[in-house]
Amino acid sequence: MVQFTLPKNSKVTEGKVWPHAPNAKRETEFRVYRWNPDDPANPRVDTYFVDRDDCGPMILDALIWIKNKVDPTLTFRRSCREGVCGSCAMNIDGTNTLACTKHMDDVKSSPIRVYPLPHQPVVKDLVPDLSNFYAQYASIEPWLHTSTSTPEKEWKQSVDDRAKLDGLYECILCACCSTSCPSYWWNSDRYLGPAALLQANRWINDSRDESTGERLDSLEDPFRLYRCHTIMNCTKACPKGLNPAKAIAEIKKDMVDRQV
Ligand code: SF4
Ligand code: SF4
Ligand code: FES
Repeated sequence: MVQFTLPKNSKVTEGKVWPHAPNAKRETEFRVYRWNPDDPANPRVDTYFVDRDDCGPMILDALIWIKNKVDPTLTFRRSCREGVCGSCAMNIDGTNTLACTKHMDDVKSSPIRVYPLPHQPVVKDLVPDLSNFYAQYASIEPWLHTSTSTPEKEWKQSVDDRAKLDGLYECILCACCSTSCPSYWWNSDRYLGPAALLQANRWINDSRDESTGERLDSLEDPFRLYRCHTIMNCTKACPKGLNPAKAIAEIKKDMVDRQV
């Protein structure tokens, strides 16, 4: 059997155990990944005890409580606090999801383990570097392409054509799907991944867009599209209930349809 050894500086060590809140009657224990680029030490996992009677119910509430009451150095991204901005995506109890919509009581294991999204470089603590992910999104040119003259009012769309965007336009670009995809882990330099491909399909399906052929041409590549092996982790991970694997399958079908 092949054995792998991690480089010394990538081994995650036991971190600090932070004090309990005074007078807390109901606590939840958290183990949280910590890494600081300004500190030469290895990544570590710190232990915190959250006072549930002094804190909101979601994982994000707990992280904000820790930051405000225990350890102001804990770093994570968040903005909307209601599953709309996608910035609080992280790995909670082994699953990529949004910290603001994940209830602490819905995490079955104890302690609750919180890590950054997997297989991305880490900026600090729970903040992944998504530069490549956003560059891939930009590469699909996520805006309307038209060559006919612009109408005086708006580009019209029938109700039925508008319905073809359902299940696609709701994507909040949280990256939970792409960072749960094994093909993306190994080939994220060349494979676009489920989020960018679902977005590509959103523009291919848009009845107002006039570059469908060019959009398909740019995806006709053994890596950009065809590294998807239908493993389905992406669909399982999506916290918005979308189906990136289906969107990818539809693009592959469009590729075949235009050959016949
Ligand atoms: S279905 Fe495709 S995109 Fe989704 S996890 Fe599998 S390989 Fe990745
Ligand atoms: S498809 Fe779902 S998991 Fe993927 S980026 Fe969009 S909202 Fe997030
Ligand atoms: S904070 Fe915006 S999705 Fe969680």
